[in-house]
Amino acid sequence: MTAAEKPGPWGVIGGTGLTRLQGLHISSRQAVTTDWGEPSAPLVLGTLGEQPVVFLARHGDPHRIPPHQVNYRANLLALKAAGVRRIIAVNAVGSMHPDMPPTRLVLPNQLIDYTWGRGHTYFENVPESGLEGDLQQVTHIDFTLPYSEPLRQQIQATAAAQGIKLVPFATYGCTQGPRLETAAEVRRLERDGCDLVGMTGMPEAALAAELGMEYVCLALVVNWGAGKTEAPITMAEIELALSEGIGQVQQLLEALLASPQS
Ligand code: HPA
Repeated sequence: MTAAEKPGPWGVIGGTGLTRLQGLHISSRQAVTTDWGEPSAPLVLGTLGEQPVVFLARHGDPHRIPPHQVNYRANLLALKAAGVRRIIAVNAVGSMHPDMPPTRLVLPNQLIDYTWGRGHTYFENVPESGLEGDLQQVTHIDFTLPYSEPLRQQIQATAAAQGIKLVPFATYGCTQGPRLETAAEVRRLERDGCDLVGMTGMPEAALAAELGMEYVCLALVVNWGAGKTEAPITMAEIELALSEGIGQVQQLLEALLASPQS
């Protein structure tokens, strides 16, 4: 972002456990559509603390769209059309790393994409619309660092000031879902260097990069990866960790936006 460009409202994409953003003073709800179809839910515009925010529930409101059926292209494009240039994406994840137990917040700095068959780029024809995607401009975007370093720094500083425990580096492996992994798949993810596993980090991060938006993933660990404990993973344990951990996400977001942007 150049100094001349206004940062615009923050975009917050809420994942499982964050269908609504507490503390958001809502000014309007906008049901929008894009060349790539409809986003998961109406955009919720408002202010959090002192700053304008556009909130989008990734799985719909109520939560009904599974990770592989989210229209990520429409979601990101709708946020961009609303003026958003910086996105904080909240993702519930499983963990393979002993330092990242359930309820811990993690700020990944790398990812590996294991998803398939998802609409993952704007550089192709727009399905069923006759419109051409951005084929004139087809670009192989640089994706060396998938997450915005300035946003990562800002979030780390806020977490430290708030006394919120946050692990500042991790590699996020994005699987297809909606099923959870086998124990062998989790061992493979570990061998590949993944610390976390989730289903929604991609293609979201890459689409944000294609649109030239700053994007960061704020991951909340909700379970140990498959096979890391004796017991099978239950929805009850995931829901418990979500309800215990989501308060820190809210606190962090509110603190981050507590003062007016410069
Ligand atoms: N695997 C994949 N996605 C997830 C998990 C998991 O263990 N937990 C939360 N999202």
